Amino acid sequence: MKTISKIDELKVVLREKKYNKEQIGFVPTMGFLHEGHASLVRRAVKENDITVVSIFVNPTQFDSKEDLETYPSDLKKDIELLRALGVNYVFTPDKKEMYSKMFSTFVDIEGDITKKLCGASREGHFKGVATVVTKLFNIVLPDKAYFGQKDAQQVAVISRMVKDLNMDVEIIPCPIVREKDGLALSSRNVLLKESERIDALILSKSLFEAKELIESGEKDSKIIKKYIVDKINTLEYANIDYVDVVNASTLEDISLIEGEVLIALAVYIGKPRLIDNIRISVI
Ligand code: PAJ
Repeated sequence: MKTISKIDELKVVLREKKYNKEQIGFVPTMGFLHEGHASLVRRAVKENDITVVSIFVNPTQFDSKEDLETYPSDLKKDIELLRALGVNYVFTPDKKEMYSKMFSTFVDIEGDITKKLCGASREGHFKGVATVVTKLFNIVLPDKAYFGQKDAQQVAVISRMVKDLNMDVEIIPCPIVREKDGLALSSRNVLLKESERIDALILSKSLFEAKELIESGEKDSKIIKKYIVDKINTLEYANIDYVDVVNASTLEDISLIEGEVLIALAVYIGKPRLIDNIRISVI
């Protein structure tokens, strides 16, 4: 496994692989890797000739300086994990390498898909994500790129962008990896205090219970939303950013629960803002 931090160097290496018709799988990350990331990487290694993983804490997608500054990192441990998983190249650019002083081009996707859910409270977040992912795709030229459903809106936004801009890459959505007790794995979970870690279970529990309600016949999205909100609000210090029931591909609000439905939420449990979601297929 080789670690490369310069764009031009990685481009030369990967263009040669492309020329030799080797299939490139790509997993973009911000590091501090856990089993959720590892599940994406395992799949990429299995399905491609060459696997590239990027580790870059992208400043343009953070709306708060504090959030960016407290984002955890452990590059040494990440690199050991990626080596063990059979990755070929780890791309670790620094901020200057990705954003020169003159940088002034952004990819901005319009509509509900970026303005709702996380986009409503995190101004400019998806513009930053779409811009960095476009840059990374242009550098790596992957055949397949792997994204976790943990960030369901991110998958929807990137899929939209790839379609709209005719990018030559297949987006592969991968299932959410959870702790045994249900908590969705996240790099931010280390920021939870011990008691908050226990209380955070209310998020996955309320989603699982909502799924059961739907499976037993409930079709009214308002009732489902209220059920989740009321449950989370039993935890006094939880601060709900949003709980939404939407169409899984357009992210538009729905009143009747049918087809592919996404229930997504973002909640502050103490300082950390946690997100989780569940996808339900209702015929
Ligand atoms: P990051 O939060 O590091 O996540 C990298 C990838 O891992 C994303 O596709 C995310 O959805 C996936 N992932 C995280 N936790 C997961 C879990 N519990 N189960 C399954 N997949 C999980 O998402 C980003 O970085 C950035 O926005 C990025 C795409 C790299 C652009 O900067």
